[in-house]
Order: sequence, then C-alpha cells, then structure tokens
Amino acid sequence: MTDAIPLSLPDITDAEIRNVVATLRSGRLSMGPQLEEFERLVSERIGRRHGIGVSSGTSGLYLGLTALGVGPGNEVITPAFSFVASANCVLATGATPIFVDCDPGSLNMRPREVQKRITDKTKAIIGVEVFGNPSGMAALAALAAKYEIPLVEDACEGLGGRSGSDPIGRFGRVSIFGFYPNKQITTGEGGMILTDDDHLADLCRSLRNQGRASSSTDSGQELGCWLVHERLGFNYRLSEINAALGVAQMHRLDSLIEARERIAALYTRRLMGNTDLILPTVEPETFMSWFVYVVRLSDRFTAQDRQFIINGLRRHDVGASNYFPPIPLLPFYRQRFDHAPGDFPIAESVSQRTIALPFFTRLTQREVDLVCQTLELMMTRITFSRS
Ligand SMILES: Cc1ncc(COP(=O)(O)O)c(C=O)c1O
Repeated sequence: MTDAIPLSLPDITDAEIRNVVATLRSGRLSMGPQLEEFERLVSERIGRRHGIGVSSGTSGLYLGLTALGVGPGNEVITPAFSFVASANCVLATGATPIFVDCDPGSLNMRPREVQKRITDKTKAIIGVEVFGNPSGMAALAALAAKYEIPLVEDACEGLGGRSGSDPIGRFGRVSIFGFYPNKQITTGEGGMILTDDDHLADLCRSLRNQGRASSSTDSGQELGCWLVHERLGFNYRLSEINAALGVAQMHRLDSLIEARERIAALYTRRLMGNTDLILPTVEPETFMSWFVYVVRLSDRFTAQDRQFIINGLRRHDVGASNYFPPIPLLPFYRQRFDHAPGDFPIAESVSQRTIALPFFTRLTQREVDLVCQTLELMMTRITFSRS
C-alpha cells in the first residue's frame, strides 16, 4: 500500500516557517511591513504600479469590479468555463453576468465571441487565463481597449505565466491573483489586485479597509483617522501572517514554477501516446505557469465514464477532480437566468470529460507513473465493459 497522492499540496519550506514565526514574534499582525513587501514583490515582478493585497482572489475580483463602478443594471461579460468566483463576483455587485463559451483548445473565451456579446450595458469584461493559459488574452485586452470597456483580468490561476513578453497580471485595467494553497504560490488564503491606475488603486485600498482613506493604518488612530470611513467598505485585508508566507513564497517563485513545469512535462511525456486523452495545449510564444494538470477524455467517453474514472482514482488513493462544471448551468445560476443545457456546447462538452490529476511540486516520477497507470487502468476497464 502506498501513501495517498493528494490533488494538490503547498510547497512550504523553513524559509516560510521562519518568516511567519518572525512576524508572529514582531507583534505586528495587520497592515505592516510584510504586506508592503509582498505587494512590492508581486507588483514589481509583474511590472505594475500598484499591488493591493486582499483576503482572497474572490474579494479582489469583487473590489476590482466595485472600484470600476459596476453595479445593478450593468452587464459584465465573463467565461462560462471557469471557477465559479469569476461570475459570483459579478452577481455580488448586482450586475448581470453575460456568459461566453470557451475555445476547445485553450479553454479561454474567444475574443470574437466576446465581441458579439458587447452591448451598451457592458460595463466590464472579465478575462480568465483558464488553468494558467494566457492564450488570447492580448487580443481580449485589445478588444476591450477598442470598445473602451475595462478588462478585469482574473489571473487567479496564472502567476508567473507569459504571453510573448507580457506577463499574466499585466493585461487588465485591474488584474487579480489568488493565493489559495493549490496555486503557484500560497498565502493560505489571499489575493492581490494589480493596477497602474492611481485612482483605482486608492479606491481598492480604501474598500478593503472599511472605507477608510487609503493611507489609513491603525497607527493613525492617534490622529483620529481610524474611525473615519469615507465610503462603504469591507474588511478584505490580508494579514501580516499571510503576507509573511507570501513574501517567502515570492522569493522562491521561479523555482516553484520550474518544479511545476517539470511535473507537467513528466505527465505529458507519460500520457502523450494515449489517443483517448487530450492533453493541455500550450501555444507557441506562450510560457505556461502550470496551475493544474487537467486531461480530457476523448468523446468516446461519457460524463458517467469520467465519474467512474475519478471514483476509481480516489479509491486507489489518487486525488482527482472534475474541473469545472459550466458556471451558467449551476443550479443557482439556472434559477436566476434562463440558461439551459446546450447553450454553451463547448464548455459543456469539455467539462463532462475533464480530469484534474494530482499536481504539486513534490510529486515524484514514481507517483506520476502510478497516477497514470491507475488512470489508464480505469479507462481500460470502461473499454472492456463495453466489449
Ligand atoms: C479563475 C479563478 N478565479 C477566482 C478564484 C478565487 O480565488 P480565491 O479562492 O482565492 O477566492 C479562483 C480560485 O481558485 C480561480 O481559479
């Protein structure tokens, strides 16, 4: 019996532990030097003027939209195939999400399809680098610029990736990273808004901090600023403890990305001969910062087959998941909007046959082999059960 192989696992070393412990000992647990340093490291890496650390990718998306003035009566274009937060942030503002199907290769929205959905109510476009793939993002940014509609880049899955020389996180009027433990770097929970716009940055800083003036910290208490709230705000701050973890992870970003690239290459080499699997595609001129390794079963397989395979993998202690169900067909979206099966044919077809395999820096060649063997065993069982 081997140990279970989880779907993901954060890569935490003594460097992270030392920085978190030093922060705990410092007595400063909120709005201090670690947050400032983390914001500096991320924004400089991406080449943006401002980085605003927040409590999650989801809160960053919500604040970004709110700062752009998105609200009831507006439409926001967003992908049908993404993690649910890419659309929930729109609902949270009171605006209406307008869903666009995905490209079958990159799994990102196709700019041509986005263009068809632009109306005079469109207040923002949310572009997602699905699974970290920046394909089409430059064209989407150009389209948004042409129509003078702000692009909100949901870059939660893509830290470290590039399209040509443009890093993920530089395409949006506001761009948002997420640092959940399965991401390229983690802060436990956390996110960051990036922008070059001073006004939007100020607004996001204020919104994350209970509507206080953007420069306000609790050391301003003596000056009477701490209880001055200029607007409706929230507590979406990122604590010093989380930021300390992020600082240590940012110092290791290149080696983390390299390790993930190595694991992706192991999977690709091992599975590329299997004609019943569609492997992730990476276009030329694209540097993929791997977030997950998601394979797709050929259309010989049904959604039930896929579930059988995922269950089989899990029974063998191999983590696996069905990334992602199409957002507009989730029950609570169907209750609100008129979407029905068949409306997003590519997203629906893709999402019935995806399998996310274990993916983290410390996977060994032996574990990758074991995952692939188990996957192929389950696929063979289905083939035999039919013959
Ligand atoms: C595309 C996308 N957007 C938003 C989020 C939300 O980020 P968080 O979990 O930090 O709120 C995620 C998280 O996985 C994501 O993958």
